[in-house]
Amino acid sequence: MGSIISQVIFHFVIFLILVVDGITVESSLGLSRQVFADVTSNKLSREYDGTWGLWSYHGVAEESHATKTQFVFNADLVSETDGHHQDIASMVYPALGLASDQDPAYQDLDEKQLGNTFYSKQKFSVLMACLLNGGTEVTAVIMLKSYLQLAKKHSNMKIGVNWCDHWLMSTMTNKTETEIVKTFHENLQYLINTAFVQGPSLTPFFDNHPVIFLFGGGLTPKLFKEIISLPLDLPKSLSGLPVWIGSYLNFASSESLREEWKGLINGTFGWSPYVLKPTPPSLQSWDFYGDLSDVLAYQKNVTSFGNQCLSDGDCLIWCGSVSPGFDNRGCAGWGRELRLIPRQDLETHKRSTYDAQWDYYIQGNISTNTIIIPTMNDFPESTPIVALNDSNFSLKSTSLHIKAWKNLKADDKGIYLPQEWYRLQKAIQYYGLTPGVNVSSLFAYLNTAGQAIDNQDYTTASDELQTCRSQLESLISHLHSNNMTIHVPSPSMSSSIPPIMMNGSYVINGTAGLYLTLDSDTSKILVNSNYKGLLHFWYLPLNSSLNYLKVFSPTKRKDAAFKEDKMFLSRRNTHLPNVPNQTVTNLLTIVGDFAEVCSLVTNSSSGTWNKATVEMYKINQSWEHAGPYKSDLHFESLGAYLVQNISLEFQVISS
Ligand SMILES: *[C@@H]1O[C@H](CO)[C@@H](O)[C@H](O)[C@H]1NC(C)=O
Ligand SMILES: *[C@@H]1O[C@H](CO)[C@@H](O)[C@H](O)[C@H]1NC(C)=O
Ligand SMILES: *[C@@H]1O[C@H](CO)[C@@H](O)[C@H](O)[C@H]1NC(C)=O
Ligand SMILES: *[C@@H]1O[C@H](CO)[C@@H](O)[C@H](O)[C@H]1NC(C)=O
Ligand SMILES: *[C@@H]1O[C@H](CO)[C@@H](O)[C@H](O)[C@H]1NC(C)=O
Ligand SMILES: *[C@@H]1O[C@H](CO)[C@@H](O)[C@H](O)[C@H]1NC(C)=O
Ligand SMILES: *[C@@H]1O[C@H](CO)[C@@H](O)[C@H](O)[C@H]1NC(C)=O
Ligand SMILES: *[C@@H]1O[C@H](CO)[C@@H](O)[C@H](O)[C@H]1NC(C)=O
Ligand SMILES: *[C@@H]1O[C@H](CO)[C@@H](O)[C@H](O)[C@H]1NC(C)=O
Ligand SMILES: *[C@@H]1O[C@H](CO)[C@@H](O)[C@H](O)[C@H]1NC(C)=O
Ligand SMILES: *[C@@H]1O[C@H](CO)[C@@H](O)[C@H](O)[C@H]1NC(C)=O
Ligand SMILES: *[C@@H]1O[C@H](CO)[C@@H](O)[C@H](O)[C@H]1NC(C)=O
Repeated sequence: MGSIISQVIFHFVIFLILVVDGITVESSLGLSRQVFADVTSNKLSREYDGTWGLWSYHGVAEESHATKTQFVFNADLVSETDGHHQDIASMVYPALGLASDQDPAYQDLDEKQLGNTFYSKQKFSVLMACLLNGGTEVTAVIMLKSYLQLAKKHSNMKIGVNWCDHWLMSTMTNKTETEIVKTFHENLQYLINTAFVQGPSLTPFFDNHPVIFLFGGGLTPKLFKEIISLPLDLPKSLSGLPVWIGSYLNFASSESLREEWKGLINGTFGWSPYVLKPTPPSLQSWDFYGDLSDVLAYQKNVTSFGNQCLSDGDCLIWCGSVSPGFDNRGCAGWGRELRLIPRQDLETHKRSTYDAQWDYYIQGNISTNTIIIPTMNDFPESTPIVALNDSNFSLKSTSLHIKAWKNLKADDKGIYLPQEWYRLQKAIQYYGLTPGVNVSSLFAYLNTAGQAIDNQDYTTASDELQTCRSQLESLISHLHSNNMTIHVPSPSMSSSIPPIMMNGSYVINGTAGLYLTLDSDTSKILVNSNYKGLLHFWYLPLNSSLNYLKVFSPTKRKDAAFKEDKMFLSRRNTHLPNVPNQTVTNLLTIVGDFAEVCSLVTNSSSGTWNKATVEMYKINQSWEHAGPYKSDLHFESLGAYLVQNISLEFQVISS
């Protein structure tokens, strides 16, 4: 297989010439040096999706012996002091707030960030996709389609698929061999028809073969063999069958795995380093951890397997990885054990885990031409490289290292512009909801700025953003702003039907709800203005088992498209003890119901009252007394709660 090695080297040479010339080329795996960043689709928002998706999470790390193994995160809760969501399912906090992965503005940001941090004529995103039944509308499928549209618009972006076979397996009903093979085969055909039919300009290819990343841990070699031996209906434009590259962890990290998968897959890729070193007493929040030396040992292991596999002729490709750290408490270890890879080395807190891996690949002149960043935005595992509330480090570092790795002399003034562009877009969208306000001229400036960012013309981009910002400030200065607080009960808001009270508090349980109606003058104000709203209340769980307290407010919006995303269901279902299935469905925020104001899960009744502050959104609430008993707000629960001190606070804006 000498030809494959020389092909790789040959491609290196081509790459260098092309960069010097600044020519745009179509790349494929096996061609120039490139960087992939994994993006996930499952963090959602009440404004965009009617649910938080995986920003909220309730689960138990069942195989863990750490100090805390059950985690309940309620993304709805916000801090009154800084407005941050104070209980999100992640150990790191996003600088841009809790965005929805499905929001086109956020996806555009992603594309711009790739363009201006990865400096690539060939930008890559690898989508983490759990596909169901050949394209059911689950978040990953919706996102795959929208990213393909983005890629078409910005011809320099490609979309790959990182197939989570273990997730797909976990959503199957009977898990019989027939069902598994049929489902996977249908999904594969769907991927061909939707993604790879677009060809090498939009999706990753090796020569004429589509490249599929297989995460592993689900399919057995036998099932995989059966699936790939079934005939595929290949469109005319596709001449080669897919090549499969499997994650190092699940396909090559031990001799037995290598034996099992030999002759079935065509390469391997590194991921977030997987290290099973038991934690010392100072790190009892996790079961295992890995320090810098372990992380580098992992990369060396991937490298040595990759090189060996290539030279043996068993692999066509191998991909290295660079990852900023890891902490899976946000997803409670996906039901398994808790692991930590700190972002800095544990002894001096100086050397960055992320930089160390980049240095390994760059300074070591390691012979892979593809590096994968897991991930762009996976907050549940605390692996994102996007800007965090207290650090732009990973973005900056990504930019520096990609330049070094690709030997580019690019301007890095554009790294933070996409963030500014996104913030402005969100602000304009918000003010645009004010009746009588027309923000189309603001969007025009923003679009010009966006195009300039895409063209890496940072001077124009900065100027346009500045103009846009001053225009927005001028618009805001002409708006009326008025703060309004509504106490419950009061003439402005009172019970629609007599509430059940105990000790001066409202009882919420399976039979007792609380239904509140807003008076017509206040309703009119809210309907005819724009607002930022907060709902405050105190709550006391009376049951100690896993239960929820939800607040609803009628909406005119239809449920979000991914209503039945079984991925969320199955991932969490299995890890909630002693809760009947139907209850689990209700506990999980899987339904994109815009009427849901908040859903607070509790698992103890320590006798202490908790304060809740949650956001209310103009686009979600209708304030037309369309709820049960002509209400505008109602409380429901599983299990029993006491609720008191309810109030609403609105910053009302009108033209
Ligand atoms: C699962 O098994 C049940 C009972 O045999 C059957 O009715 C159902 O169709 C099966 N479902 C799938 C998806 O194979
Ligand atoms: C990928 O690997 C399989 C199994 O070894 C092999 O049959 C196939 O030819 C390989 N694909 C390419 C393009 O080499
Ligand atoms: C690297 O490989 C060696 C030899 O197989 C193994 O003992 C070690 O645990 C691996 N280290 C990591 C971090 O993967
Ligand atoms: C890097 O490796 C390539 C082959 O993989 C070799 O041609 C080149 O000379 C090496 N560069 C350095 C600086 O060692
Ligand atoms: C950033 O968020 C983390 C996690 O929520 C928090 O502990 C930290 O105080 C925040 N830092 C800043 C500067 O807001
Ligand atoms: C990150 O960059 C943005 C844009 O330049 C800046 O506003 C922000 O303060 C930076 N964040 C930190 C934590 O330095
Ligand atoms: C907003 O203004 C633009 C021109 O600036 C106009 O074309 C558009 O129709 C206006 N939209 C509304 C809803 O009035
Ligand atoms: C209204 O409330 C907001 C948010 O709490 C505050 O920033 C603002 O100053 C208040 N405005 C007035 C007029 O009180
Ligand atoms: C209600 O008040 C009574 C008397 O003060 C007290 O015994 C009881 O525990 C209270 N119930 C709750 C649920 O707080
Ligand atoms: C709800 O609370 C009321 C008042 O304590 C009680 O009468 C009723 O039985 C409770 N319902 C349920 C389902 O527990
Ligand atoms: C709950 O779901 C699991 C897995 O789908 C199933 O095995 C179990 O029978 C279900 N339990 C009930 C009470 O429906
Ligand atoms: C909550 O506690 C009450 C009283 O102990 C009990 O009757 C009820 O079944 C519990 N409900 C749940 C959902 O645990």
